Amino acid sequence: MNEPNKPRKILFVCLGNICRSPAAEGVMKSVLESENAKGWTIDSAGTGDYHIGDLPDSRMRSAARRRGLDLVHRCRQVRESDFEDFDIIIGMDANNMANLRRMAPTTEAVAKLKHIAEFLPAGCGYDYVPDPYYEGAEGFELVLDLLENACRNIYQAYK
Ligand code: 4NP
Repeated sequence: MNEPNKPRKILFVCLGNICRSPAAEGVMKSVLESENAKGWTIDSAGTGDYHIGDLPDSRMRSAARRRGLDLVHRCRQVRESDFEDFDIIIGMDANNMANLRRMAPTTEAVAKLKHIAEFLPAGCGYDYVPDPYYEGAEGFELVLDLLENACRNIYQAYK
């Protein structure tokens, strides 16, 4: 039985599901692997449907690969069953959270929603993970820097 305060099934959500959330999925899996933590389910999805079936953005994949992460997720959109299948659903910014609240079918589902800000270190200068899609290479490095901190904090919070 899963304790409600120990979520083991975590869905990361952004808009396109080709930059931030598949990176979060990859970083979180790597944290769990380095901790030899078993029994977690980690996935990602987008609120939009622009890139369904695609691999993550090549810029995101390159930046991740330089840190030893191979991002192989195939883009998918958030679906109603996600609100049943996952213990918590973590959005990357306020826009993702607003979309998720709209999509959530029940009040129990709304209660599963969490903003990544909860897990970003105080003083890092960000209370969301900025969308790097229209940015330069440094935007992708920033995403990974923020997510490495956030995912370590998620692990510490729920291990
Ligand atoms: P993501 O970035 O939400 O971090 O995956 C985006 C990727 C694609 C688009 C928007 C954001 N798009 O509009 O195609």
